[in-house]
Amino acid sequence: MSNPSLLILPGDGIGQEVMAEVRRVIDWFGAKRDLAFDVSEDLVGGAAYDAHGTPLHDDTMAKAQEVDAVLLGAVGGPKYDDLDFSVKPERGLLRLRKEMDLFANLRPAQCFDALADFSSLKKDIVAGLDIMIVRELTSGVYFGEPRGIHTEDNMRVGVNTQRYTEAEIERGARAAFDLAMKRDKKLCSMEKANVMESGILWRDVVTEVSKDYPEVELSHMYADNGAMQLVRAPKQFDVIYTDNLFGDILSDCAAMLTGSLGMLPSASLGAPMANGRPKAMYEPVHGSAPDIAGQGKANPIACILSFAMALRYSFDEGADATRLETAIEKVLADGVRTGDLLGDADTTPVSTSGMTDAILAALDASL
Ligand code: NAD
Ligand code: IPM
Ligand code: MN
Repeated sequence: MSNPSLLILPGDGIGQEVMAEVRRVIDWFGAKRDLAFDVSEDLVGGAAYDAHGTPLHDDTMAKAQEVDAVLLGAVGGPKYDDLDFSVKPERGLLRLRKEMDLFANLRPAQCFDALADFSSLKKDIVAGLDIMIVRELTSGVYFGEPRGIHTEDNMRVGVNTQRYTEAEIERGARAAFDLAMKRDKKLCSMEKANVMESGILWRDVVTEVSKDYPEVELSHMYADNGAMQLVRAPKQFDVIYTDNLFGDILSDCAAMLTGSLGMLPSASLGAPMANGRPKAMYEPVHGSAPDIAGQGKANPIACILSFAMALRYSFDEGADATRLETAIEKVLADGVRTGDLLGDADTTPVSTSGMTDAILAALDASL
C-alpha cells in the first residue's frame, strides 16, 4: 500500500520558517516510527502571487483536492497590502477552505502547565485549561452575497452579508456535538440572536440538533458575553460552537489563555472522502507575523501541533499524536522557550530550529 499523501503549503513570512520545522518532525516519524508520508510542496498566498500572479494556482487547488491532507503555514504580509482584493494572499487560503468545503474548524486551546505562569491572566484561571472552539469555516459573512464596495449618492459603501442556511449550521453543529461526546459532554453555542436573524436561526438549529445528543449539556451565549466569559472564567467551557467571524475573533482571544498565538493549532475538516478520511487541512491559528519574519524567532509549536492534529484526525494515529504533544509538554516543562513565551523574563530564548531540536530530542527519548 502506498504511503498517505501530504501537501505542504508553507505560504509567507514565518509560515515558511515554521513549516521547515514541521518537515523535520514528519521526517522523524518516517524514520523512527515507520510512519512515512508522500510529501509534496507547493505555493500559496503571496509566494504563489509572486510566481504565478494568483494566490492559489488552479493546479495547486487540484492537488489539494487529491491528497489525504494539506498542511498550511500562513499567508499574507505588508508586501501584498496594496494588491487588488481578488489576488490578496488571504484569498488563496479562503479558496482552499471553500472549495475543499472544510466546514468544521477545530481550534483547541490548551494551557500547558509550564506556561500557566506566563499567561496574561492569573495562573489559577488558566491552569489545566482545555477547550475546543469549533468555528464554522465556509459560510457566514466571509462568503455571503451581496458583497463589495460600491457608490451610492456619491459616497462609497462597503457591503458584506452574514448568511447561513440551516444545513450549514447543522453540519457544523453535528461536528461540535460529536466532539463534545468524546470530551466533557458540554457544548456552548455562541451567536448574537439578540440582534441578528442569522443568530436566531443558529440558536434554533443547534437546539434542534441537540435532541440527537441528549447526553450533551447545551447552553447558549451571546458572543460578546462569550468573549468576556472566555477571559473571566475560561474553564467553564468544554466545546464552543460559533460562526465564521465570531470564531475567528474568539480563537485569537483563546490563544492568549494558552500563553501565545504561537501555541495554537487548528484542523479544518470536511466530509469524508472515498477512502473514509475527512477532507482536511491543518494550519496554525497565527498569521505570517511580518514583525518577526526572517529572524529565526518564530515559535514552531502551533504548526507542529497542527501536524499532531493531522496524525489524530486524518491518519488515526492518536497514540503518536499524543507522543508528539507529550514531547512538546516536556520541552516546555524543561524551560525551553522561544521569545514569544518569555515576556520580560531574563532568559535567552531559543531559535525556531532550536525549539525543534529540543522537541526531536524529547521524541527520541520517548522511544
Ligand atoms: P499574526 O498572527 O501574523 O501576528 C500577530 C502577533 O503574534 C505578532 O506580534 C506576531 O509576531 C505574533 N506571532 C504570531 N505567530 C507567532 C509565532 N508562531 N511565534 C511567535 N510570535 C508569533 O497576525 P497579524 O499581524 O494580524 O497578521 C499578519 C499577516 O498574517 C496578515 O497579512 C494577515 O492577513 C495574515 N494572517 C494569516 C493567517 C493565516 O494564514 N492563517 C492568520 C492570521 C493572519
Ligand atoms: C485565520 C485568519 C484568516 C481568517 C485570514 C488570514 C483569512 O485570520 O485563519 O484565523 O480570517 O480566517
Ligand atoms: Mn484569525
